[in-house]
Amino acid sequence: MKAYQASLLRFDEHGQAVYETDGLLVTGPDASGRRVVLAAGSYGALAPHYADVPVQRLPGRILAPGFLDLHIHYPQTDVIGSPAEGLLPWLEHYTFPHEARFADADYAADVARFFLDELARNGVTTALTFATSHPGSVDALFGEAQRRGLRLITGKCLMDRHSPDGVRDETEQSLIDSEALIRRWHGVDRLGYAITPRFAPSCTEAQLTGAGELAARYPEVWIQSHVSENLDEVRWARELFPASRSYLAVYDDHGLMRERAVYAHCIHFDDDDRALMRDTGTAAAVSPTSNLFLGSGFFDYAGAERVGFRFGLASDVGGGTSFSPFHTMLAAYTAGREGQTKAGLSLSPQHLWWQHTAGAAQALGLGGVVGNLQPGHEADFIVLNPAATPLLARRTGQAQSVDELLFAMIVLGDDRLVEKTVISG
Ligand code: GUN
Ligand code: ZN
Repeated sequence: MKAYQASLLRFDEHGQAVYETDGLLVTGPDASGRRVVLAAGSYGALAPHYADVPVQRLPGRILAPGFLDLHIHYPQTDVIGSPAEGLLPWLEHYTFPHEARFADADYAADVARFFLDELARNGVTTALTFATSHPGSVDALFGEAQRRGLRLITGKCLMDRHSPDGVRDETEQSLIDSEALIRRWHGVDRLGYAITPRFAPSCTEAQLTGAGELAARYPEVWIQSHVSENLDEVRWARELFPASRSYLAVYDDHGLMRERAVYAHCIHFDDDDRALMRDTGTAAAVSPTSNLFLGSGFFDYAGAERVGFRFGLASDVGGGTSFSPFHTMLAAYTAGREGQTKAGLSLSPQHLWWQHTAGAAQALGLGGVVGNLQPGHEADFIVLNPAATPLLARRTGQAQSVDELLFAMIVLGDDRLVEKTVISG
């Protein structure tokens, strides 16, 4: 067992922040040997029960759950900051040509190492990430994540049409490769596989059908894709699949909406789409820095809350502009103000933070496993230094409430705030 004395941030079952100024976090192995949180609470109440456990004292620091990134592209680490008129030209001019480089396994391994370092520096302990269409790009990332003991989910992109040479795959082989990767990696240590149709316009009817069949055969496996991000993309998807009620419905018509399915963006929805998300247990990955950078639009938080489907926050690097969850939470707040006439109820600092931790874990089907520091959760956490910069020190030092403290960190924070990221501590 290990114990850490510091301020402690976690969430109750209603998503409310629970904050102890003088807290104690006790970790150790559970019955199956996973390192989990054994106890969390006030130092005064807990310390007598753990008197023989060595305590690491971290004065002035805050322990918080590691962040989850619900949608990111590890191969787009080097695509960040590539401007384009919108999504489709951005894919054609920057993204597809760059992803072609991942045919080279050494290159993929090099980017995988850099990417995982960058997640850790920013306090992200679990990501649902795209790889490229090359099966080797999946092996490269899983191999590196396994060495680091991470809980991480990825999958090979399915894209058998409307994609250039170098990234386009072949229908039959793409499904054989996906199944082989599921068998090789899903459930190994803390790794999980995601069936990954890139987006409906890049997949033939046959490839989507095959992906849906795989999803039915492997119900524990995740599904990830993009939907309703950009108006030109929506028009294109409607032309390609005229029989489906909407762009989102294309995925449902192919058996690709269920628990553990996560769709990025979900911007240009109507209430029937929202109800379909809710009724199938599908979750949205909200990517505000990407939506702002590519001019895609604004996720409708009020609509999501009204109809009641699950969502969480995501960077969408490299359409997104930052690995930092603080930048993503701030962009979600700002975009939420801009995109709605009424300030959304979902945009309190506690709720933003929850959407990137415990709420994101719930959306991913990993509630109770990661994303919180309540007993039983895997012990992935971050050590925050709220005095990391002069302005952070000055502003957080004047916070009168948990909301004020969290807001100050959301607005002023970046990788400097994250002093340490602990995996299975
Ligand atoms: N739609 C299809 N592929 C992509 C991608 O790589 N990034 C984003 N943001 N949208 C997509
Ligand atoms: Zn994306």
